[in-house]
Amino acid sequence: MVRIAIFASGNGSNAENIIRYFKNHPSIEVGVVVSNNPHAYVHERAKAFGIESFSFSKSEFEKGCSVLELLRRYNIDFIVLAGFMLKIPPLLLDAFPHKIVNIHPALLPKHGGKGMYGDRVHRAVIESGETESGITIHYINENYDEGDIIFQATCLLSPEDTYHEVAEKVHKLEYEFYPAVIEKVITRSFHLDDENK
Ligand code: GAR
Repeated sequence: MVRIAIFASGNGSNAENIIRYFKNHPSIEVGVVVSNNPHAYVHERAKAFGIESFSFSKSEFEKGCSVLELLRRYNIDFIVLAGFMLKIPPLLLDAFPHKIVNIHPALLPKHGGKGMYGDRVHRAVIESGETESGITIHYINENYDEGDIIFQATCLLSPEDTYHEVAEKVHKLEYEFYPAVIEKVITRSFHLDDENK
C-alpha cells in the first residue's frame, strides 16, 4: 500500500473527497490527516472516516522534525496538500522529493504566491477581469505555488459572477479532478502498474 498524508488547514471538503475516493482502493490509502489548526473542520471529517488527525503549531511546521516523525510513524509515502496554508519546510521537501502535491484554486502562474489562498484568490481573479479560472495541481517546491505543474482544468466566468460563484465553479473542478490526478501521479511514481503485470 502507498500511504498518503493529507495536509489541510480549514474546512477540508477536498480532504474528505480524497478520503472517499481512496476508501476501498486496492493500493493507495489515506493514512493520516495533518493540520496547523486544531479547530479546523477537517478533523471532524477525518474522524468520521476513522482516520486519525493531528495539529502542529506554525513553529513546529517551520522546523519540520515533529511532523516528519509523525509521517514516519504512520509509514507515509506521499503528501497531498488540500487547502493547506503554510509553507512546506526543507526537511519535508528533502524527505519527500517529488512526492508532495498541492491544488491551487486558479490558473497558475497567475494569482498565486504568498497570502493567495481560498477566497482571496477568487477575488483577485474577479478584480483582474478574467474570463476564465480553474485549478492547478502542481508539485511543491521551496516557493509558494511555483513547483512544476502536473494538471490544469478551466471554467468559464461571466462578468456577473460573485466570488462565491467562482469558488463554486472551482470547487466543482477540484472534486472532479484532484483525487484522480493524485491516483495517476502515485501510480506512476510508485510503479503500481508494474505490480499488476
Ligand atoms: C480549495 O479551494 C483549495 O484549492 C484552496 O483552498 C480551498 C480549501 O477548501 N487552496 C489554496 O488556496 C492553496 N493556496 P477545502 O478546505 O474545502 O478543501
